[in-house]
Amino acid sequence: MTKEQLIQKAKDARELSYSPYSNFKVGAAVLTKDGKVFLGANIENSAYSMCMCAERNALYHAYMNGYKKEDIAALALCADTEEPCSPCGACRQVISELMLPDAPIYMSNLKGAVKETNAVELLPFAFSPKDLNK
Ligand code: THU
Repeated sequence: MTKEQLIQKAKDARELSYSPYSNFKVGAAVLTKDGKVFLGANIENSAYSMCMCAERNALYHAYMNGYKKEDIAALALCADTEEPCSPCGACRQVISELMLPDAPIYMSNLKGAVKETNAVELLPFAFSPKDLNK
């Protein structure tokens, strides 16, 4: 699967967003090294703190199908933003633990702008299992 195809999957996932409170739809897609794609979208709740982001949903989706960080090739996300949509702080923390440090992350928007990054760039000096001696 190409980078463009993965970004299209994230755009498709965005349509599954349940975001009646923010009206801000986000989609994400995780590509595994064996070619599978797991989607995620942001799912909100009237108890606002229960809201879950697209990126975490996609990563948890992959993990719930038995995939681990070593198996994940890339992550794409997409939203209707001016610049390519950037993961929130909570997602950066989760990405830093559930993806390899240099696996590509494609941030994108509906206009087709794309910026490539990775877990280390998004969250340098991350708190990690090492800090817990794990
Ligand atoms: N959101 C995501 O799904 N991913 C991000 O990286 C940024 C924010 C969601 C959370 C909430 O449902 C909505 O976008 C507005 O913050």
